[in-house]
Amino acid sequence: MNDKVNELRGKINELLERVEAFKPKVAAEIEDFRIRMLGKKGEVTALMEDFKSIAPELKREFGQKLNNLKNRTLEQINKLREEAEAQGGAGENRIGDMSRPGSAEQLGSRHPLSLVTNQIVEVFSRLGYTVAEGPEIENDWHVFSALNFPPEHPARDMQDTFFVEKNPDILLRTHTSSIQVRVMEHQKPPIRVICPGRVFRNEAISYRAHCIFHQIEGLYIDEGVSFADLKQSILYFAKEIFGEGATIRMRPSYFPFTEPSAEVDVSCNLCGGKGCNVCKGTGWLEIMGCGMVDPNVLENCGIDSKRYSGFAFGMGVERIAMLKYGVKDLRLYFENDVRFLHQFDSAL
Ligand code: PHE
Repeated sequence: MNDKVNELRGKINELLERVEAFKPKVAAEIEDFRIRMLGKKGEVTALMEDFKSIAPELKREFGQKLNNLKNRTLEQINKLREEAEAQGGAGENRIGDMSRPGSAEQLGSRHPLSLVTNQIVEVFSRLGYTVAEGPEIENDWHVFSALNFPPEHPARDMQDTFFVEKNPDILLRTHTSSIQVRVMEHQKPPIRVICPGRVFRNEAISYRAHCIFHQIEGLYIDEGVSFADLKQSILYFAKEIFGEGATIRMRPSYFPFTEPSAEVDVSCNLCGGKGCNVCKGTGWLEIMGCGMVDPNVLENCGIDSKRYSGFAFGMGVERIAMLKYGVKDLRLYFENDVRFLHQFDSAL
């Protein structure tokens, strides 16, 4: 009996020494060590079995010793695991076990707003338009005054416009028409530009409005440009974006910088014009504003309004993407939840 007790004591001490001395070369060795010590057939586990047959008066001493051994082993394994993780591998070999399968890289995808912007730009580039960009922080002239906004126009109201440092002349652009003014000031007709960009309006955020959104506006100026040209260009655009079956209608509207002005509706691509909850039973979806550039605007930008005429149009990218992809809440575009974004992985 004494022999057996001594043997047990010796074994516990030996295992303790091995635990303290264990230095893995690669991370995978830690798991092997754990199985060899604490697994079902492990050495520490086997001692626990031996403990059952020990004399009752020795149980206290060996119970403590075995518990200590088990705890030390666990502590040591956890410590080594943490070290290996921190180093990206264990010991000298930082790569770890090279035979283990690699973890797949998650590929990102284009944001739906970029997808739609690219598509719209591509459609108009086929009609000979080039992309123009401009600053997001603008002055009153480029956003309002050059565009024929009377001084008392409500769009200049603090409600809609973010002003920079209380200076009424410096503001965040509320539409990308400001880019068109810059283009007209610097280029001679014929002009054909498409102006994508971020715009800012001081609006309460909801499922259908945000204080930051994206627009694409277009401008075409040449001799003899007519409303018929505008209508054909928009019809072509609508068919390219919403499908060959798409039709448009124009409703009279008002913008300070165009005369006449119109609001464009496209036939609802979800119900085919029959009426559904997206088009609120009308069969039509509003997609953009447009019109013939007001002669005052041409003159403000140094273009001879007797010789040249032109049309302009502007649309919200969020809205087009909502209609195209059936997105019901505009805030989703800005939250960057990968579960939402991954739905566009295979979109064009
Ligand atoms: N700038 C207008 C807006 O932001 C859109 C528009 C552009 C309307 C060009 C007509 C012509 O709402």
